[in-house]
Amino acid sequence: MSRKPIAAYAGIGVAVPSQVVTNDDLSRTLDTSDEWIRERTGIRERRIARPDESLTELCKRASLDAMGRAGIGPEALDAIVVATVTPDRRLPSEACDLQAALGATNAAAFDIGAACPGFVYAASIAEGLIATGFHKHVLILGAERLSTITDWQDRSTAVLFGDGAGAAVVRPADGNGRGILSSYIGADGRLAELLHIPAGGGMNPLTSENVDKRQQYMIMAGREVFKAAVRAMADACDQALARAGVTADQIDLLVPHQANLRIIDATARHAEIPMDKVMVNVDRYGNTSAASIPLALAQAEQEGRLKPGMLILLVAFGAGFTWGAQVVRW
Ligand code: ACO
Repeated sequence: MSRKPIAAYAGIGVAVPSQVVTNDDLSRTLDTSDEWIRERTGIRERRIARPDESLTELCKRASLDAMGRAGIGPEALDAIVVATVTPDRRLPSEACDLQAALGATNAAAFDIGAACPGFVYAASIAEGLIATGFHKHVLILGAERLSTITDWQDRSTAVLFGDGAGAAVVRPADGNGRGILSSYIGADGRLAELLHIPAGGGMNPLTSENVDKRQQYMIMAGREVFKAAVRAMADACDQALARAGVTADQIDLLVPHQANLRIIDATARHAEIPMDKVMVNVDRYGNTSAASIPLALAQAEQEGRLKPGMLILLVAFGAGFTWGAQVVRW
């Protein structure tokens, strides 16, 4: 018997920059190749925002799309939670800039920094806000301009990431069994150094010296991150399934964080979910961190692979390290 949901997804919306950057484009400036990138990651192309294309603009487009599908206007929002590691500015939050852009004057607004599983974290927070009884419509976003923290001279990371935004309205479940059946979120800060940005924080502010050393960009120990991602995503799937009281063979669609096709493949194999029940679009967008799951959900809906009543499993892993998974009756 699965758990009764408190909150449900009411509409998903997305926005991506129009600029497509292919692997061949990257190989013109980096010592890499389309073949290497495709074989190691499954990525063919990614979207990259132009300098004047703000994260707020992407968030606004995704939000209007999600609210349109949920049938609500901005005044109905009680809270806005933006999961991002690349806000347009450090103060105020991305969520406050978005609140102003939407005219969502009744909404509380704040950001969370949970890297790639940020959307799952945000949905879990929305569930909690709704459980208090004081919030009805919570707008959650996973949105990134990772291109602003990517070192375009480092082939080991530059080929992996992309930009995009995904939004969802979360509201109280209406008693028909549809909604979030379980959320599981976790972290291990002891492994932070495996994927981090050395400079730009309070303890190591930007200076011309550390900028010359390109320390304002992400650095990653790829192999270690890969192994940790496979382990954490497998465990997160198990935990979310157990909390929901369902088994993997009941899952109609697995929607994993789109970091790398080999990590997705290993996660599906662990859960014993066949690849025809796994949503994959890493080939089109690369790793968009917190935007990755909503981008995959929206595409699955568009392609008719995600229908009301289906049982789905969301799972993600990222810098921190952080991870999270959810079982949802869509
Ligand atoms: N093009 C060509 N060669 C490359 C490239 C490139 N873009 N990048 C690295 N190489 C070379 C390396 O220099 C190395 O060469 P060497 O053997 O001569 O030293 C060789 O390829 C193998 O490098 P590895 O790093 O061992 O390659 P690996 O098979 O591990 O693949 C990758 C690298 C794709 C980064 C993989 O480790 C990975 O996907 N890791 C997980 C990354 C990830 O998912 N991060 C995000 C999770 S968190 C988040 O989403 C924010």
